Amino acid sequence: MNPETRRIRIFDSTLRDGEQSPGCSMNLADKLLVLEHLEALGVDVVEAGFAASSPGDFEAVQALARAAKKTTIASLARCRKADIDRAWEAVKDAAHPRIHVFIATSPLHMECKLRMTPDQVAAAASECVAYARSLCQDVEFSLEDCSRSERPFIYRVVAAAIEAGATTVNMPDTVGFSMPEEYEALFRDVLANVPAASSVVLSCHCHNDLGLAVANSLAAVRGGATQVECCLNGIGERAGNASLEEIVMALKTRHSFFEADTGIDTTRIYAASKCVCSVTGQKLQANKAVVGENAFAHEAGIHQHGVLANPLTYEIMTPESIGLPRSKMVLGKHSGKHAFSQRLVDLGFRIDDEARVDELFSKFKILADRKKTVSDADIEALARHSREVDAPERLTLDRFSVVASDVITPMGTVRLKFDGKLVEKVGTGDGPVNACYTAIREIAGLPDARLEVYNLTAVDGGMDAQCEATVKVSNNGRTYRGSGVSTDIVEASIRAYIQALNFALAGGDAPPAAPFDHPQRGDTGVH
Ligand code: KIV
Ligand code: ZN
Repeated sequence: MNPETRRIRIFDSTLRDGEQSPGCSMNLADKLLVLEHLEALGVDVVEAGFAASSPGDFEAVQALARAAKKTTIASLARCRKADIDRAWEAVKDAAHPRIHVFIATSPLHMECKLRMTPDQVAAAASECVAYARSLCQDVEFSLEDCSRSERPFIYRVVAAAIEAGATTVNMPDTVGFSMPEEYEALFRDVLANVPAASSVVLSCHCHNDLGLAVANSLAAVRGGATQVECCLNGIGERAGNASLEEIVMALKTRHSFFEADTGIDTTRIYAASKCVCSVTGQKLQANKAVVGENAFAHEAGIHQHGVLANPLTYEIMTPESIGLPRSKMVLGKHSGKHAFSQRLVDLGFRIDDEARVDELFSKFKILADRKKTVSDADIEALARHSREVDAPERLTLDRFSVVASDVITPMGTVRLKFDGKLVEKVGTGDGPVNACYTAIREIAGLPDARLEVYNLTAVDGGMDAQCEATVKVSNNGRTYRGSGVSTDIVEASIRAYIQALNFALAGGDAPPAAPFDHPQRGDTGVH
């Protein structure tokens, strides 16, 4: 790193702001896996969750704090003593703990949400930061909805928070309202009007409601921010947060423009992004910048010609720089275990258990027999499901058959092993999947299990494509997620349902499915 350039800290909130968005909830094993990727990337701070929001969140933040090797681990906390105590309890075992306190400072939020006067907000900010600082050396303070707050009040609260001991001050564009020029000016103005501001880390945090989160974050860097808060794949509340990979690659690719460096090993980006897709089940749009499937694909002949002559003609960064090998070997039935394992690693899966790799490899061989070539999406789907082997398995599929027709009521006969004993039932429904689900519910003895969400997607194109079914099932007030993959849509659907019911049978140990188990926004006031 050139000593002349500024060092920009990367604060990743995939496990907090990202995780709290619908469809992105992760269980503890998922979060630990994401943490490994974040540490390999070299992010400076991982916001591990919001410890006071639920017992599950507390346990996850604590486990991540204990597991992190080098990264600072932060927990979010409202400006309340009880929240701050909970945050500290959760992060205190980390090698580098941080408490992240926030309160809203815009007239709208203070009046309508907090029902507090500006004087009360300023006093609360100061008291809470001081209290957090009495527990932890590293305290971040955020002015929620800062971009819609009034300048004199921002200056007052920033100065008070620094005076009370904040080591980082974050000025979020909470609702994605700002334009880049305005957001840059906010940072310049705070640096010009609050003398102490240059002695702390100034941070930006942008939401993508108008598609400007990355542009605003980069503008903040130009304005003097030295920490950027972001999420992998840009996941997050509503339209998401600023995307980590886009910010990091913009700073790297336009280095002479920004004169700033991050500590990120960009060659780890692709695997980290894939890992987040796999644990959240959320696919990326094909044209997503940096990590989308088409980000380095050249379709037009004129472009292909140019890239072959010299990649720089149409590529401003190389696929290798984000960890995407330029030419990937096609995997098929003649591929060996070594190539297969390497592809798993490239796709962001790290499977330590050799027996699990062997099992996956034999599934891959079976699939390769059915399909000429096995795509990355196929391998990802297989690996995603292997991650679920930790799921309790009281119910397993033995066999099934369906009768589907538009003239008689569809019927499904399903034989399952339930605690080792074969049980067969016949069900009817308005379609073959529904009929099988009726039979499975009866075998499991869970008549009240309700199918809340059902999704079926083709893993890849083509007539021989695998499909992936995902379900959310509610039982006794809790929601359970399940997924299944097969070249047969009924089988994939059955497997997904069985997995969710296995979690339901295990009760409390199930991974919660978003958004049902998640703290409500009104509850926490967080975006
Ligand atoms: O968007 C926001 O303002 C936040 C804060 C809690 C940092 O997420
Ligand atoms: Zn946010």
